[in-house]
Amino acid sequence: MLKKKTAGVGRNAPCPCGSGFKYKKCCLGKKVSKPYDFKKLYAQKYKIRLKQKKDIEGIRKAGRLAVDTLRLAESEIRPGITTDDINMLVHKFTIKNDAVPGPLNYRGFPKSVCVSVNEVVCHGIPGKRVLKDGDIVNVDVTPVLDGYYADANKTFFVGTPDSDARNIVRVACESLKKGISMVRPGNRIGDIGWAIQRYAEGEGCSVVREFIGHGVGFAFHESPQVPHYGRKGEGIILVPGMVFTIEPMINLGKRYLSVLEDKWTTVTRDGSLSAQFEQTFLVTDNGCESLTPYDFERILNA
Ligand code: MF3
Ligand code: CO
Ligand code: CO
Repeated sequence: MLKKKTAGVGRNAPCPCGSGFKYKKCCLGKKVSKPYDFKKLYAQKYKIRLKQKKDIEGIRKAGRLAVDTLRLAESEIRPGITTDDINMLVHKFTIKNDAVPGPLNYRGFPKSVCVSVNEVVCHGIPGKRVLKDGDIVNVDVTPVLDGYYADANKTFFVGTPDSDARNIVRVACESLKKGISMVRPGNRIGDIGWAIQRYAEGEGCSVVREFIGHGVGFAFHESPQVPHYGRKGEGIILVPGMVFTIEPMINLGKRYLSVLEDKWTTVTRDGSLSAQFEQTFLVTDNGCESLTPYDFERILNA
């Protein structure tokens, strides 16, 4: 009789739990009923700090403040206000809610929020620039509440958008949704970028490579890195307790960037419009939860 090669799982074979690790490093010798605790392994192997219940509650609370802050900004955005006005609004609201604005003095960033208009891709420093009818403006907030960080941004229309503005904001928003659709345990980080790139480039737009999503919660920027481009099936396996942002920056023209003299403000090299949407996500046991939930339909129907 032919000996069955499949009898038992080899110590060096991929673990049957689907973790992607070797059996001996994963479920070997552990009770099957108890799901493997990835906490130590992910910390050692990837420097990823998985979040526990109390951490998730903390980030969720910071996340609610982030969403409230974006809603407040939206209500004040109109032609004639300056990007400094948005900074003041965000700063005061954050402090009033017992939080600290993460951007302020972060690696020398001088203001409390990033405000990026039209061809500014990200990291716009609030200043005297006056918003005018037809502009698009991204507001990126990161409140720190009880030590927990939540990171979220949204691109708004100022007055009435033209068709280019409508288009790039729609594609950026849909790009985030494509990314979200890939977030569940067992999928890989590369699946997220793959879905975004395939969609955005299919719409004739380009994906920024230099800035990516990131782990968040205990600090502003943690492991892992979450590119918005890439290949399906590549990268770290998603497991419950991971918290990271997805924040695709999508350009109407080419993907190439320039950084201005201030060392922060990043613009499209070809001057084309750029839009972005960002939320903070938790990988749950069966999918994902946004810890900074806001509504996409209003943007997509605008
Ligand atoms: N909020 C940005 C992000 O999504 C980072 C801004 S860094 C700052 O990762 F210093 F400009 F605030
Ligand atoms: Co971010
Ligand atoms: Co951000």
